Amino acid sequence: MRWKIALILFLILSFNTTRALAQQKEGKIESVCIQCHSQLGGKFAEPVEQWNKSIHKEMGNNCEGCHGGDATDMGRAMTTEAGFRGKPKLLEIPDFCGKCHIGVKENYSKSVHGITASKTGAPNCVTCHGKHDIKKASLELINEKNCTRCHTYDKPQKIKQALASTDKEIARLSALIKDVKGSSIDTKRVEEKLFAARNAIHQVTHVLSVNRINAMKATTDKELSSVDESLKAIEKEIAKRKRIAIGASLFCFFTAGVIILYRKIFLKPENWFKV
Ligand code: HEC
Ligand code: HEC
Ligand code: HEC
Ligand code: HEC
Ligand code: HEC
Repeated sequence: MRWKIALILFLILSFNTTRALAQQKEGKIESVCIQCHSQLGGKFAEPVEQWNKSIHKEMGNNCEGCHGGDATDMGRAMTTEAGFRGKPKLLEIPDFCGKCHIGVKENYSKSVHGITASKTGAPNCVTCHGKHDIKKASLELINEKNCTRCHTYDKPQKIKQALASTDKEIARLSALIKDVKGSSIDTKRVEEKLFAARNAIHQVTHVLSVNRINAMKATTDKELSSVDESLKAIEKEIAKRKRIAIGASLFCFFTAGVIILYRKIFLKPENWFKV
């Protein structure tokens, strides 16, 4: 009987070891945070379910990216020596997220929300974005339901309107770049310029100042029209190259025709296709 148990144990162990080695090789060994928390149930498992649907999972910001700790070792996982920080207090949240989103945190800290948060309960990162189910952000987050929980909607609406037209232009230019990207002309420089302009305007959203946003909008719109000019020049160049290519192939057809005609008229049939 004993040897049977020993054999089964041996088989299970070797199966697990092979699986772990294979996972390690593929670089996707599951973190111990997720292994343990998904079995805990209730409010301790919920973060795993929510994080699974988040942009952070998609981009590789795992539990330990935010909470610290050692995701490779069950015993050490939540110890202070492994840098575990646990759950942040309400007023610590901007620094907690700002570790990675440095520019956003700086701008948030300058905003009415950031300045008054400790006294007024104004929103922090998590109030607007959620904590574990964080999605790609867009102006849709500024809406009547989200923003009228604490005050009127007139200022939020102004901010949204100011940003919306610039966002629309950014989307149009991105689509144009996609269209010309396959061509032989290098689009890297315009892409970088558009990306920088996009980030500059989106950085100031968190300042919540209509004046600051409008000032940045003026600069950004100038950058965008320069991107537009560059793209128009690229489109022109592509059209020119197309015309040259068509011209060249027409010329080839014509020359070939002339040669064949010449051979048919002046050579004997058995020599028509000899080079
Ligand atoms: C062996 C099981 C186990 C592992 C592994 C584990 N946890 Fe936990 N975790 C728990 C339990 C149980 C609690 C609730 C009791 C407590 O706070 O100690 C908890 C609580 C937490 C809390 C809330 C703490 C608070 O201040 O309320 C956070 C955040 C957390 N874990 C994150 C992590 C992260 C990140 C990892 C991986 C680096 C991890 N856990 C690994 C079992 C585990
Ligand atoms: C983007 C950063 C971020 C990531 C990634 C993240 N958390 Fe959290 N987590 C937070 C914040 C912020 C809080 C505290 C929110 C609050 O107080 O409302 C929190 C709270 C918790 C709590 C306490 C819940 C409670 O209600 O007391 C647990 C447990 C937890 N996280 C576990 C995890 C686990 C497990 C993972 C990985 C699957 C994870 N977290 C990934 C930011 C994060
Ligand atoms: C360990 C680094 C890290 C921490 C800490 C972190 N994030 Fe992120 N976050 C990322 C990365 C990486 C991305 C994906 C790249 C990007 O879009 O910036 C991302 C993306 C985001 C996005 C989507 C951005 C977009 O392009 O629309 C939001 C919103 C966000 N994080 C909010 C938060 C909030 C709120 C917290 C705190 C609860 C937080 N992050 C903590 C690394 C982090
Ligand atoms: C009042 C609500 C609100 C608060 C508070 C807030 N955000 Fe945002 N956040 C937004 C909105 C709306 C957008 C989308 C508009 C934009 O990107 O300009 C956004 C966009 C983002 C982005 C994407 C930026 C980009 O370049 O696309 C990140 C990252 C982010 N927020 C992180 C944070 C962090 C970290 C904090 C806390 C320090 C925070 N947010 C606080 C509303 C908020
Ligand atoms: C949890 C409460 C809360 C939520 C939710 C909230 N705010 Fe606020 N907001 C405040 C507080 C508190 C102030 C400080 C000034 C005040 O009392 O009006 C403020 C002020 C502002 C101001 C400055 C007003 C001024 O007179 O200069 C703007 C702009 C603003 N919020 C935008 C937003 C936007 C956009 C949203 C939604 C994405 C939002 N807020 C959601 C609490 C909130």
